[in-house]
Amino acid sequence: MNILELLHVHKSFAGAHDVTQALYDISFTLRDGEFLSIVGPSGCGKSTILRLIAGLIVPTAGKLLLNGEPITGTNPERGMVFQRAALFPWLTVEQNLTFSARMMKRNINDKEYRDEAERLLETAGLKEFRNDFPYQLSGGMAQRLALIRTMINHPKVFLLDEPLGALDAFTRMNMQDELLKMRQRFNHMMLMVTHDIDEAIYLGTRVIVMTPRPGRIRADLNINMPFPRVRTSSEFMQRRREILELLDFGA
Ligand SMILES: Nc1ncnc2c1ncn2[C@@H]1O[C@H](COP(=O)(O)OP(=O)(O)OP(=O)(O)O)[C@@H](O)[C@H]1O
Ligand SMILES: [Mg+2]
Repeated sequence: MNILELLHVHKSFAGAHDVTQALYDISFTLRDGEFLSIVGPSGCGKSTILRLIAGLIVPTAGKLLLNGEPITGTNPERGMVFQRAALFPWLTVEQNLTFSARMMKRNINDKEYRDEAERLLETAGLKEFRNDFPYQLSGGMAQRLALIRTMINHPKVFLLDEPLGALDAFTRMNMQDELLKMRQRFNHMMLMVTHDIDEAIYLGTRVIVMTPRPGRIRADLNINMPFPRVRTSSEFMQRRREILELLDFGA
């Protein structure tokens, strides 16, 4: 059982003339099988939380622990899908997908790995584009590739920064179902930043609502509806209203 703890985390960024306080006193605990959706206004520090957990930056104060050990630096056990798809431009779609397996000297011709790679390419609608390079892809295709490239590594902690933001509504719902299936099958711990409240509720076992900068946790909500969730149910609508009110967009 993996456990992620953020304990009174603060983060400030020093500029040339001033200091931006991005996060103020963030604490939460997350376990395997939990899906945490993070919502909040632009600039409230959502990406900063994920980058701290990824180990790309260090907190100004407070602690981040994975299984009781401080997080120091990056590690493939904490897989990040960035807000802007970060693909390798000199590799094809398929080579981007299998890059880390090749780095880790995993046999990419192994049947189980091959089958999963094929299934993911299919789900992401990238099968016919497997030999294309990133510059030949649309924004949505690039985002889908960035997502399945992290999926195939089965990280302990899955960090998703608006990974579905550039997708059309139908592909987006398919990818949401794919994430859901993956979490249910492998019991991953997932954290996802999204601006889409329906998406936050559809996927989340928990939703954290943040305040404007400096970002604090305004509410940490348990979402207990059974999966798969019905977007039009009255309970779903009720949760959506509650979150909109917390974001000051209530009626
Ligand atoms: N490396 C950095 N140097 C200086 N300031 C930074 C840095 N990274 C983030 N910030 C600042 O910290 C604040 C939070 O940024 P962050 O990217 O976490 O916001 P966000 O909630 O993800 O916003 P969005 O929804 O627009 O993606 C912003 O004011 C941003 O300008
Ligand atoms: Mg962001």
